[in-house]
Amino acid sequence: MSKLSYLEVKNISIELGEFKLKDINLKVKKGDYLTIIGPTGSGKSILLETIAGFYKPKLGKIYLAGEDITNLPPEKRKMSIVYQDYMLFPHMTAFENIAYGLKKKIKSKEEIEKRIKEICEILNITHILKRNVKTLSGGEQQRVALARALVIEPEVLLLDEPFSALDVKTKENLRNLVKKAVKEYGTTVIHITHDFEDVWSLADRVAVMKGGGILQEGSVEEIFYKPSVNFVAEFVGTNVLKGEVIGKDENGLTLIKVGDTVVKSVDMGNGDVLISIRPEDVVVFYGEKRCKVKNIRRRGEVVEITLDLGGETLRSLLTPNMLKTLNVEDEVSISVDPNSVRIIKSLKQKISYKN
Ligand SMILES: Nc1ncnc2c1ncn2[C@@H]1O[C@H](COP(=O)(O)OP(=O)(O)O)[C@@H](O)[C@H]1O
Ligand SMILES: [Mg+2]
Repeated sequence: MSKLSYLEVKNISIELGEFKLKDINLKVKKGDYLTIIGPTGSGKSILLETIAGFYKPKLGKIYLAGEDITNLPPEKRKMSIVYQDYMLFPHMTAFENIAYGLKKKIKSKEEIEKRIKEICEILNITHILKRNVKTLSGGEQQRVALARALVIEPEVLLLDEPFSALDVKTKENLRNLVKKAVKEYGTTVIHITHDFEDVWSLADRVAVMKGGGILQEGSVEEIFYKPSVNFVAEFVGTNVLKGEVIGKDENGLTLIKVGDTVVKSVDMGNGDVLISIRPEDVVVFYGEKRCKVKNIRRRGEVVEITLDLGGETLRSLLTPNMLKTLNVEDEVSISVDPNSVRIIKSLKQKISYKN
C-alpha cells in the first residue's frame, strides 16, 4: 500500500439542508498531522464527521489503508474523535471514561490496564484517574478525553478544535502532550483549529476550507508563504504585493521593485510578479526613507504596522519595544530576509489572482 494514499477522501460531496460540501479531495499519509483551517461555517466539522462516518456522502469515497470505508459505521473505522467540549461521561471517574470503549474491544484485564497506564503516563493524568470527571479542570478533562480517544490505538485521530476552550498555558501544555502521544503511537491526525500556533507547532500539512470546499492543501510553508489564492493569503495574514523583477544582485538574488522600494528574493522570476511576504519577517527601521507608516495597531503581544510602499501596502509585525519612537506618517525603510520574499506567480500570462 502506498504511503501516499493512507487516508484518502475522494470527490466527496454531501448536502445537509442548505449546506454543501463540494467535491472534497484529500490525501493524508500514514503518521502525518493535517490541520484544517478556515472561517466558521466553512464545513470543517462536517468534513471531519463525514470522515468519522457520522454523515453519509452523496457522492465520493473514503479509503483507509486502501480499504473502501465509505459505508462502514463509525465504530468500525478505527478512528477516534475529540471535541472542544470534552464530551466525557459525567457520572464516571476518569479511569472509567478511558476504559469504557476499550473494554468493548479488549477482554484481557491486564491488557486494558497496561494500555491505560501507558497513555495516562504520556498525558500525565495518572494521579487523577480515580476522580469523578466533573471535578476536573478543563485541561484535565481534555487530557482524559484524549486518553480515551488514544487508548483504543486508533489509526486516525480526529480533533475538532480540542484546545479552543483552554487558556494559553494549558493549550501549550496540551499541544506538547498531543505531539508526544501521536508520535509515540504513530497516529495519523486530522485537527481542526483556529489557532495558527497549533499549525506551526503540530502540522505537517494544512488544508484551508471556505464555503464547503478546500481552497488549498499544502505544507505549512506553502500555505503561509505561497498562498494560491487571495482568500488564503488574507486568512493566514500573508502580504501579497505586485512587483517587477528588475534584475539580480551580486549573490544571484532576484531584485524586485515594489512601489518605490526594492526587495530581494531567493526565488527566480521575471517581468511583473506577485510576491508574498510574511508580516513577521519585515523589519522596519529609520534609514533610506522609502515607505510611509499609515497605521499602527497593537495586536496582543505584537504591533502591526501598515506601510505604504508607494502604491503597494505592506503589513509588518513588530515587538512593541521596537517602535517606541515610531509614529503614523513617519518615513521609514524596510528590510526583509530574501528567504521570506517569495514569488507566487508571474503576471506575464495574465493569470488572474482571485478567489
Ligand atoms: N446537521 C446539519 N444539517 C444542516 N446544516 C448543518 C448541519 N451541521 C452543520 N450545518 C451547517 O453547515 C455549515 C458548516 O458547518 P460546520 O461544518 O459545523 O462549520 P465549521 O466547522 O467550519 O465552523 C454551517 O452553516 C452549519 O450551520
Ligand atoms: Mg466546527
